Amino acid sequence: MTRCDRTEAWAALQGHYAAHGRDFDLREAFARDPGRASALAVDAPEIHADLSKNLLDTATRHFLLDLARECGLEARRDAMFEGDAINTTEGRAVLHTALRAPRGQGPFSDDVHGVLDAMLAWVETVRDTAASGIRDVVNIGIGGSDLGPQMAVPALDAFVHPKLNFHFVSNVDGHDIVPVLRRLEPQTTLFVIASKTFTTQETMANAHVARAWFTSRGGSDTQRHFVATTTNVKAAADFGITTTFGFWDWVGGRYSLWSAIGLPIALAIGAEHFRALLAGAHAMDEHFRSAPLAQNLPVQLGLLDVWYRNFHGFASRSVAPYHQGLRRLPAYLQQLEMESNGKSVDLDGEALPYATSPVVWGEPGTNGQHAYFQMLHQGTDTIPVEFIAVRRPTHDLHDLHAKLLANCLAQSQALMLGKPTAAALGEQAPTASRALDAQTVARHRTFPGNRPSTTLVLDQLTPRSLGALIAMYEHRVFTSGALWGINSYDQWGVELGKALCNDLLPRLASGDTSGLDGSTAALIARLRA
Ligand code: F6P
Repeated sequence: MTRCDRTEAWAALQGHYAAHGRDFDLREAFARDPGRASALAVDAPEIHADLSKNLLDTATRHFLLDLARECGLEARRDAMFEGDAINTTEGRAVLHTALRAPRGQGPFSDDVHGVLDAMLAWVETVRDTAASGIRDVVNIGIGGSDLGPQMAVPALDAFVHPKLNFHFVSNVDGHDIVPVLRRLEPQTTLFVIASKTFTTQETMANAHVARAWFTSRGGSDTQRHFVATTTNVKAAADFGITTTFGFWDWVGGRYSLWSAIGLPIALAIGAEHFRALLAGAHAMDEHFRSAPLAQNLPVQLGLLDVWYRNFHGFASRSVAPYHQGLRRLPAYLQQLEMESNGKSVDLDGEALPYATSPVVWGEPGTNGQHAYFQMLHQGTDTIPVEFIAVRRPTHDLHDLHAKLLANCLAQSQALMLGKPTAAALGEQAPTASRALDAQTVARHRTFPGNRPSTTLVLDQLTPRSLGALIAMYEHRVFTSGALWGINSYDQWGVELGKALCNDLLPRLASGDTSGLDGSTAALIARLRA
């Protein structure tokens, strides 16, 4: 890989930004080019993307594609699919794509399909609730061992087993597990202890609480009520769990929902739908692998991310899924994107002279409209927004769905069009103060517009389309990370806090603050008082 700032295309993009990018106006661009919407539409498996409300033109796309080629994006992508150890700092391959490759295709196919078949066969025995007696499934895991299932199960609510309830416990805060356990009975509960390493403090602490609760409430058959999903089968056995579904070190935590970590998803939607989720992701893998870069959705979005972060200087991106089922998608994407690309050295360990991961955040629409959208429309920062619209609902409240879609379209339109002061001046605002002159009121009611957004359209939210959507995000993160020349697959940044916590835990008990900084010492004293 060539680092992005060491390419000719980077210099060309800098010149292009200064000459045309900085003052680019979306309204003028649409007026100039009636074919803009179709020219900037990209179709990928299960997803139609409208990129036309973004601050780019043909020349920008041309330079960005040059950047991708000069950086060697395609070779790096192929190296990932082939199983090269592209996670250089841990000496590991990055092969979540192998988890959704059809049988006989992709690396480690026998291992992958062996575990998948066994897991899905077991899942069906639990889903036979009359025989299994299970009513509640509690996933205990954190980060990548929590966020994927926690996002996907509500997203696929229409497909979820009607007699099973799903609970997700992640936080070491007892306020997480206590209210969950309060409502459960040991005889009807299945605990899934999900941890790639089976050493994570929060997960192990909660697993011990769950087991103690289970036995203290008369639960006896631990073998039937506890299952582990982990790469550390021995640690799970030491904990006393005999039913374990494994995976491998070439599956990163935040890329693991396709592995045994997806067990709660499979329990919720069943084997057939889980295979459809994998198939949707595989279809996106094939698209990423073979579509020309100009029509390659993850590549186009990854390039857009670089354009916005490094040339426009936008520090965040808001995700607005107009589907309540996708309410945990922003949290899922935060780990996927920020843990992957929140790095400040390149593959050689050299400090980067440019910005990397933006802050990713959001809420489902329309809720966000009644909270922070004010800032998106009139705040001092430009924040690109990603709208996700789903054409067909899985309910029959069509009137509500029409309102939802109209809101989604209205927001991206309002962000782009804005409202000039002159237009505001011609309006009567019923709630405006009569004590102010008309000009002042109009200035408060002016929208600058020209605020960029992308709209992703799914036909329906199904296991297959959700699989494609998530895989698309994975490859987009790959693209921007590859261009930035960083290792998107390690997470050293989480280590320091874990180590310091291990030091502070006994100090909280003993009160020993020797050698600590003044703030931490004072806080320990306060918390112990
Ligand atoms: O602390 C960060 C992290 O390592 C994530 O990358 C991972 O998804 C999470 O913790 C959970 O790790 P594990 O699955 O090993 O419990």
